[in-house]
Amino acid sequence: MPAKLVKTISGVRKAVQQVKKEGGKVGFVPTMGYLHEGHLSLMRQARKETDFVVISIFVNPLQFGPKEDLNRYPRDINRDKRLANEVGVDLIFYPDENEMYPQPFRTFVEVKELDEYLCGRSRPGHFRGVCTVVAKLFNIVQPDIAYFGQKDIQQARIIQQMVKDLNFPIKIKVMPIIREEDGVAKSSRNVYLSQSQRESACILYKALCYGKEKIKDNVRPTNVIKKMKEMITKEGGKIDYVELVDWANLKPVNKVEKGKKYILAVAAWFGKARLIDNEVITL
Ligand code: PAF
Repeated sequence: MPAKLVKTISGVRKAVQQVKKEGGKVGFVPTMGYLHEGHLSLMRQARKETDFVVISIFVNPLQFGPKEDLNRYPRDINRDKRLANEVGVDLIFYPDENEMYPQPFRTFVEVKELDEYLCGRSRPGHFRGVCTVVAKLFNIVQPDIAYFGQKDIQQARIIQQMVKDLNFPIKIKVMPIIREEDGVAKSSRNVYLSQSQRESACILYKALCYGKEKIKDNVRPTNVIKKMKEMITKEGGKIDYVELVDWANLKPVNKVEKGKKYILAVAAWFGKARLIDNEVITL
């Protein structure tokens, strides 16, 4: 059966209530559309683990800064429908802005501290926008399991904290990054890259692999980060950040300890595309 396209909150609620009445488990993948293999891997996982797979496609204005790419963010609902059907999605929630944010809208969700570094530093208000829309989507869809990609690791960690703090009865699963053959992480924003920028962009993953190895070899994080920045800059990337942070509180670290978990994360501009990537390091 092809996925049902539903534009209203009441329509989603009705469909989900029916599934739950029959004892079914609901899996949920929130997206901003322009689906790629990364999204599809989350949907496949949801298909395996739950009875009814809901995805949302909504380019959330609240999480874009005034100078960011809200208007040119890629959109193609027909292509997204086809891809969602191929992986067996049951329902696509495709609301418009008025359905999600009827005016006046005055309530926001903010997770403190975890947004101070990495993307939070260069995108003020971004995670407040993400948490607000995800909290709304969770209330609308009421899934048993929600799936997020490791590529947006800060987002995933913040959502995990939000779910814990606000007692959402939802299990959050963070799934591995899906990469192109040359290591570039799949992203809707890769369409902004020219051919030569696309070739240069694989330096992000190379720098991360280099960095992960050196951190594991106990090389000082400051030296590792300096070298990674040089590698990326040499390929034409304009660095936003290269940071090694503690997995638990997302604070930058200068020294690592055995038995702990860290995230080595990068963000850099290649032309108009701001790309992010990361590796989790367990020592
Ligand atoms: O990761 C994304 O695509 C978005 O941040 C999300 C989770 C769909 C919220 O708008």
